[in-house]
Amino acid sequence: MGLIPPEIIEDVRIQTDIVGLVSEYVRLEKRGKNYAGNCPFHQERDPSFSVSPDKQLFYCFGCQTGGNAIKFLMLMENLTFVESVRRLADRAGIYLPDIERGSDNKRAAREEKAWKANALARDFYHNHLLNSPEASGAREYLAGRGLSEEIIKSFKIGCAPAAWDSLAVYMRGLGYGPGELIDFGLLTGDSGRNFDRFRKRIVFPVTNPQGRVVAFGGRVFGPAENQPKYLNTPETQFFNKSRILYGLEQARKAIKEAGYAVIMEGYMDVVTAHQFGVKNALASMGTSLTADQGKLLLRYSRDVYIAYDADSAGIKAASRGLDILQQIGCRLKVVSMPKGTDPDEFLREKGLDGWHKVIAGAQSLLEYKLNMAQNSKKDISDVIGEVLPNLAEIKSDIELEEGVKTVASRLSLSWEAVWGEIRRYREHTRKIWEKPDKIAKNTHNIFKSGKPKDALSRAELGILKVLVENPEKLNYIRSVLGDDFLQEPLYCEIYRVVSGHMDSGEFNPSRLLDQLEEPAAGLLSRLIMEKNEGIQDPDRVVSDYINVIQRNRQARKRMILMQELATAEKNNDIDRVNKILKQLQEI
Ligand code: UTP
Ligand code: MN
Repeated sequence: MGLIPPEIIEDVRIQTDIVGLVSEYVRLEKRGKNYAGNCPFHQERDPSFSVSPDKQLFYCFGCQTGGNAIKFLMLMENLTFVESVRRLADRAGIYLPDIERGSDNKRAAREEKAWKANALARDFYHNHLLNSPEASGAREYLAGRGLSEEIIKSFKIGCAPAAWDSLAVYMRGLGYGPGELIDFGLLTGDSGRNFDRFRKRIVFPVTNPQGRVVAFGGRVFGPAENQPKYLNTPETQFFNKSRILYGLEQARKAIKEAGYAVIMEGYMDVVTAHQFGVKNALASMGTSLTADQGKLLLRYSRDVYIAYDADSAGIKAASRGLDILQQIGCRLKVVSMPKGTDPDEFLREKGLDGWHKVIAGAQSLLEYKLNMAQNSKKDISDVIGEVLPNLAEIKSDIELEEGVKTVASRLSLSWEAVWGEIRRYREHTRKIWEKPDKIAKNTHNIFKSGKPKDALSRAELGILKVLVENPEKLNYIRSVLGDDFLQEPLYCEIYRVVSGHMDSGEFNPSRLLDQLEEPAAGLLSRLIMEKNEGIQDPDRVVSDYINVIQRNRQARKRMILMQELATAEKNNDIDRVNKILKQLQEI
């Protein structure tokens, strides 16, 4: 369990509410005692992912992934056990001594240092913008674009001074050398000669999904000759643009509430949108959308509106990204604003009312593509080719049927013809997108098909199930069957840990799960989380299972004796033969 003392792990467990944790990633709805939602570990249409506040466990009946809060975060963020505990400790405000942070984790330590340095730089720029006389031009520029002080503060927008080394000097005072600041993307050059990357620019700090500052976008203001409008932190080992959406931290709550996200192109669009009260707005920062960004969005909502400037290269270039988003399960709509306007300009001109109108009038990706294709007067077969990927990826049958009708009527084709195209297309591209995640691959396939088939396995699993639901039955089961009665190795492993845990006088499933590896942990989660309507009379059920197990035990014993008997007879070993016959009779 690494270097973290068990009391601290226990503390983290007690302080972390799994429902709260999971809802940072998954939209949950109350269903009886539990919460249900769409599983973040595999693609699904109907929610089969369940979280129990009582047991502090999650389990997906679809992909059979399950466990406690620590496990959830491990899978969700691809962390080791220790990293996950550390994150949860941070989240709960539990202090972890530095030694416990693990020396095996150089990368995490460096990452943390980068975050810290970036956070310091963010505060430096932000203070400069708010307070320095030198930044009056920047303040006027932002005021001229209509940004309030409140929104500037909530996005921690800043200003980089004009001097070539302001940040370097400031950070040196805090113990950061040029080498690492270059690595973090804050300086450019080499350790001999280097400059602040951002000079005389408005800076927008960019945070990752955990709210850590990983990058900046810097915009010129005032007269700027021959300079790019925006300068960004380059992709460093700490910053991967394709996994980040600008504004996610500020927008996540509103996305869940609104039930959809709006993706815009730029920093200014998002900030203005939030100021106008459109708080579910995010930006892709000028690049084509990626599957990782889509997965990030899926944690909050399936419905995604694209609000790009129709005139910009934006939408066309983004079109591949939109297909990818649809393929991983997002439902896309395209917002159409007047040509040449971006959301920032649109909101200033038309206000929130105008915004709600264009949102209400947004077209599905399919309709949007049909329009584009028809306007460009392409052949029907070209148009079909362009919309097929979108059509074929529609996950819901009802929506698909609607899509087919739309395409058929727009292109004056029969429904059958369109269906035929879809079928052909699907046959060509099948399997590419199925099970994209490693978790699905890792899950043990022994239970993929549901219940075990033979009576013995069913009884063995049944006993385990009774046991986790009625821990007081342990002594009785043990008195009849002993401790060594299970044949299936996976069940043995679970029984060993469960019974050992119960012997220590308690049964805390969430704690127990840390002692099991996959697939045992997943199976135990299932046993704990499955509905238990089946077991009304545990005593009777237990005795039925015990019977099956005992009968099976005897049958096995008999078979062994019969084989020995055959050998003894062949050797003419009369004594042995008689002994075995007597044993057989006893059975
Ligand atoms: P835009 O040119 O639409 O900028 O680029 P904007 O966000 O609307 O900014 P204003 O309104 O002109 O102030 C959209 C996004 O593309 C990226 C930035 O993320 C920008 O927000 N971009 C654009 C760059 O990275 N570099 C550039 O030179 C231009
Ligand atoms: Mn703009």
